[in-house]
Amino acid sequence: MYTSYISGLGHYVPENVVTNDDLAQLMDTNDAWIQERTGIKERRHIKKGDGNSTSIMGVKAATIALERAGIQPEEIDLIVFATLSPDMYFPGGGVQVQDLMGMRTIPALDVRNQCSGFVYALSVADQFVKTGMYKHVLVIGSENHSGGLDFTTRGRGVSVIFGDGAGAAVVSRNDKDKGGILSTHLHSEGKHKDELSLQGPSTNYWVPQIIAEDPQDDIPYYPYMNGQFVFKNAVVRFAEVIKEGLEANQLSVSDIDLLIPHQANLRISQFVQRKFKLSDDQVYNNIQKFGNTTAASIPIALSEAWEEGKVKSGDLIVLAAFGSGFTWGSAIIRWI
Ligand SMILES: CC(C)(COP(=O)(O)OP(=O)(O)OC[C@H]1O[C@@H](n2cnc3c(N)ncnc32)[C@H](O)[C@@H]1OP(=O)(O)O)[C@@H](O)C(=O)NCCC(=O)NCCS
Repeated sequence: MYTSYISGLGHYVPENVVTNDDLAQLMDTNDAWIQERTGIKERRHIKKGDGNSTSIMGVKAATIALERAGIQPEEIDLIVFATLSPDMYFPGGGVQVQDLMGMRTIPALDVRNQCSGFVYALSVADQFVKTGMYKHVLVIGSENHSGGLDFTTRGRGVSVIFGDGAGAAVVSRNDKDKGGILSTHLHSEGKHKDELSLQGPSTNYWVPQIIAEDPQDDIPYYPYMNGQFVFKNAVVRFAEVIKEGLEANQLSVSDIDLLIPHQANLRISQFVQRKFKLSDDQVYNNIQKFGNTTAASIPIALSEAWEEGKVKSGDLIVLAAFGSGFTWGSAIIRWI
């Protein structure tokens, strides 16, 4: 068995800043409501004509990650692409990255685990590197939420929360030192699949049926979220899976140098912080400026924290996510 580590990180967000006041021009909402419930002040949205898409943002983040890892696109052995908002129904974003980055005919795998997508994708990469099958795996989380949200008052409970962006990590074989990705821990509970979901278009509910029914209220092609139910489950599962990861490595909460929770809602991160009695310096949040970017949120936050010098060699970094499915997971990393 080999060990693995993150050899490079990168992130990209569109230039177009959308404030809470901007959203209040489109729907019945206001800055105070959004900030009080979610902590979000602004988010980024792709602007028509700015050349971005889910896969293109992924490529921009990946290009930075590869540069920082000091490796060329042709050295990547596998792409794992996490998104809930692909450019196309099929094929997935991974193959587009393979093409756009001029990579060899390497495998490209898409992961559909929504807000847990990056932790799931990282876990897949970690297994392939640890078994020795691959040396460098490119992991991308990217989302174009603004392309598919309801920006009328009807959709305000969901659409104020989500933003666009991408983050990427190169997972490499570790022959340098001890440490790296120590373990990953994944879970699902499909009985709650409808509580945070997008029903169609899908094979259960295809486009002609949607057009024929002409739904006015319960629109199936916009996401549905049972916000309070999601909140209650998230705080429990975040805490559980962080503890599970620490215990698997004989570590405790006091060993954490930086917790990077999926940026679901600032109130959820604060709840977890209080539960574990962590200081502000031990928890990284950037939801205030980017909103919830689903599969992209952890790699954007990790890349940004690294740029700010908050992720240093020897640090214990804990990643944790929860989201639609429900799915949740954690990764315990001794940074190299
Ligand atoms: C979505 C969330 C912010 C809503 O907050 P809440 O306190 O649960 O609010 P509710 O849904 O009960 O709605 C309260 C009122 O605000 C209204 N409201 C909803 N969205 C609004 C908005 N953007 N602006 C203003 N009012 C809004 C509702 O219509 C409701 O009005 P009513 O009382 O007249 O019916 C909160 O439930 C949450 O953050 N949940 C977790 C979501 C999450 O993390 N999702 C990502 C998971 S990965």
